[in-house]
Amino acid sequence: EILQRKTLQELYQRLTKSFEHLLWHSARGQEALAYLYKRGLSEENIRTFRVGYGMSGYQELYQFLLKRGYSEPFLAESGLFSKKHPMYSIFRDRIIFPLINSAGEVVAYSGRAMPDAKADAPKYINSPETVLFSKRKELYGMGQAKESIRKEEQFILCEGAMDVMALHQMGYTQAVAPLGSAFTLEQAELVRRFASSALLLMDGDAAGQKAIHQSAMICEESGVSSLRAVRLPANKDPSECLEYGQVDLLTKSIKHASLYFDFLLQEQFKEIPKDNIDQQMRASLPIFKYISIVPSPVRRESYLKMLAGK
Ligand code: UTP
Ligand code: MN
Ligand code: MN
Ligand code: MN
Ligand code: MN
Repeated sequence: EILQRKTLQELYQRLTKSFEHLLWHSARGQEALAYLYKRGLSEENIRTFRVGYGMSGYQELYQFLLKRGYSEPFLAESGLFSKKHPMYSIFRDRIIFPLINSAGEVVAYSGRAMPDAKADAPKYINSPETVLFSKRKELYGMGQAKESIRKEEQFILCEGAMDVMALHQMGYTQAVAPLGSAFTLEQAELVRRFASSALLLMDGDAAGQKAIHQSAMICEESGVSSLRAVRLPANKDPSECLEYGQVDLLTKSIKHASLYFDFLLQEQFKEIPKDNIDQQMRASLPIFKYISIVPSPVRRESYLKMLAGK
């Protein structure tokens, strides 16, 4: 398995370069690039994140790798091909966002549908679990963000690859994201090695608000010492703020981000009359549950005081 790991690592290194080459130098790659520019991303940023374009033929990648001497059983475990159609690239005709881990190695890809893809095509396809990649343990942007996270003593958690890139371009180079799944304790422990405060910056839709609460619990469980959250306008995400000229709005929101716990109290009590004790008690239950997972007694105490004040 060690040998397979090393070989797969080398394959991903080379492939990332090939995907990048196709983005900058193929005709279809130019369309992908034009789309990234339209979304407000800069050339420098696209290069920093090593964005690429996956080949367009179904079996093109398979044949390309066979010719380079990779065996069929190895390719079957490479995480690049469909289980159902073993020669079909799962990243065919997609914009490729390599996931670069904290050691600076490409360990997975996230492939976004092209703007003219069929409407029923999934918008994103991510690498499956491989010898290199365990999705519960890695965060998109970690390789690019690690030093800033250490320096700023903070990490920003957002939802997706485009959001991470947009935030980095606005100067928030401490942004990372889980890819298409909930933030996990393993991911929190990874990023907590570099910083102890966190800012949650999910999409302004209902799913994003749910993700804020879920991620906050995980952050507390991992022992963050300062937790803030930003509420974006409905149906906006950080990448759309960049695309539609709302960078100032986002910057201000980040600067004035409230303590997550205040945010939670406000949310939980917003429609509850001050004199209705039953309703207040009921609204407190999820908050007690939240407080109970906080490892630090000092922090628990201060949350209880804030709740009592409310
Ligand atoms: P969103 O649904 O908010 O993506 O999912 P989006 O903002 O519309 O995507 P863009 O900006 O047009 O590209 C949030 C993130 O979750 C991941 C992607 O990284 C996405 O950015 N995701 C989403 C997946 O990995 N798989 C999915 O099926 C959906
Ligand atoms: Mn969407
Ligand atoms: Mn969303
Ligand atoms: Mn989004
Ligand atoms: Mn988006």
